[in-house]
Amino acid sequence: MPKKGTPEACSNPLIEMKSQDQPQDSGTSPSYPFPEGFLWGAATSSHQVEGDNRFNDWWESEHEGRVPHRSGATCRHYELFREDFDLARSWGHNAHRFSIEWSRVQPAPNRFDNEALRHYVEVVNVLNDRGMEPVVTLHHFTNPSWFARRGGWLSSDAPRVFDNYVERVVQTVGNRARFWLTINEPTVYVRQGYIAGQWPPFKSRGWRQAYAALHNLARAHRLSYRTIHQVIPAPLVSFAHNAPVIEPCRATAWADRSAAAVRDFVLNRLFFRLIGPGCLDFVGINYYTRMVVRSQGNVTNLLLGSVCRAHGHRGQGPFSKIGWESYPQGLFEILQRFGRSGLPLLVTENGIATDDEQVRTRFIEQHLKVISQAIESGTNVIGYLYWTLMDSFEWTDGMEAPFGLAAVDSKTQKRTPRPCVEELKRLFTSGRTEPQAQRFMRSASGSNG
Ligand code: FCB
Repeated sequence: MPKKGTPEACSNPLIEMKSQDQPQDSGTSPSYPFPEGFLWGAATSSHQVEGDNRFNDWWESEHEGRVPHRSGATCRHYELFREDFDLARSWGHNAHRFSIEWSRVQPAPNRFDNEALRHYVEVVNVLNDRGMEPVVTLHHFTNPSWFARRGGWLSSDAPRVFDNYVERVVQTVGNRARFWLTINEPTVYVRQGYIAGQWPPFKSRGWRQAYAALHNLARAHRLSYRTIHQVIPAPLVSFAHNAPVIEPCRATAWADRSAAAVRDFVLNRLFFRLIGPGCLDFVGINYYTRMVVRSQGNVTNLLLGSVCRAHGHRGQGPFSKIGWESYPQGLFEILQRFGRSGLPLLVTENGIATDDEQVRTRFIEQHLKVISQAIESGTNVIGYLYWTLMDSFEWTDGMEAPFGLAAVDSKTQKRTPRPCVEELKRLFTSGRTEPQAQRFMRSASGSNG
């Protein structure tokens, strides 16, 4: 997925989507059928919301000036999680995705911090008490500094070291949580850290290293899949896959079509091949945008294409504040495609950075409509988690990417809910049909892909 400021970001007139650009509403609010028991809520990640995550490689890079912004206190969610979950519950959410900060739980190679572990048990308890299904991510882009210093994901025993941490977490949290995501967006992590060189460990075009890191992340997934299943009865384990729709810029140009196919293999297939069969109970889908690619320039860009910055692509939607095209119909393709695996799908992220609340509401409506159509056409989608609960530290975009369902005043830490909160609630509580998600949860018993 293109990030703001990356060489591949579609930075063409980064037109903020305006409400007048949008298709006109008929005047009546839409309502879509969602199955009884469908999971819905929001997603966050530790480094983006907790504040003062001093022991990881992002914090270190922020303080060495290697990334443009500092996370600092961000939303102080480490202290304010109870109030934040109260808020989400008052908005009707029945699920919440968050990540455990590895560097808090294991601040040194031979030391686990019991207080940090207790904190995350409390987070899960608080969610359960409020009737919100916890969806736990074990790795969301950040690594403990000690792990990064010993070679990070390039070190041959990285998967074992990660699995050791996972084992400790899972033994502590136990079956208080059923949904587990091992790794968030392995392809984005590797691309940003080993190819684009914009995130730690800042390697540029290290193709061999990128492959080695991806390979180790896949081994880490496999090991931790097994570990989670050994410790908890019938957990539901996946990773969060960033799934862009990839299309050729010139549909008639063989080179563009081939570049789109190669890029699609790298971004949408390779990691699944690397993890192999038998270690997914569902598929976590993070969907934001489409990539239109053109084969041009150096060998890499001939082969994989570069993201085309021109306007006027077929069915082009408007661009968000950070330059991501809104392309809801792509979500339909993605859901159908990954649904063919026979595994249930959970949308683990989808959202927009915008200052225009009508645009955000429209974005959510359009994507939910597509999900309900996919469900109607037989795809087993069990939930939707909006990115994100509240404005937070957005990596190289700092605090300047308003994705949140609530705005956050960084001085007072006051959360101000945005209008889409009510629309989301309305969409999810109207037009219910059969209890599909509940059926899935009863029948799921650690099957695989
Ligand atoms: C995804 C990341 C998440 C956030 C959103 C906007 O790629 O998983 O942390 O940055 O993009």
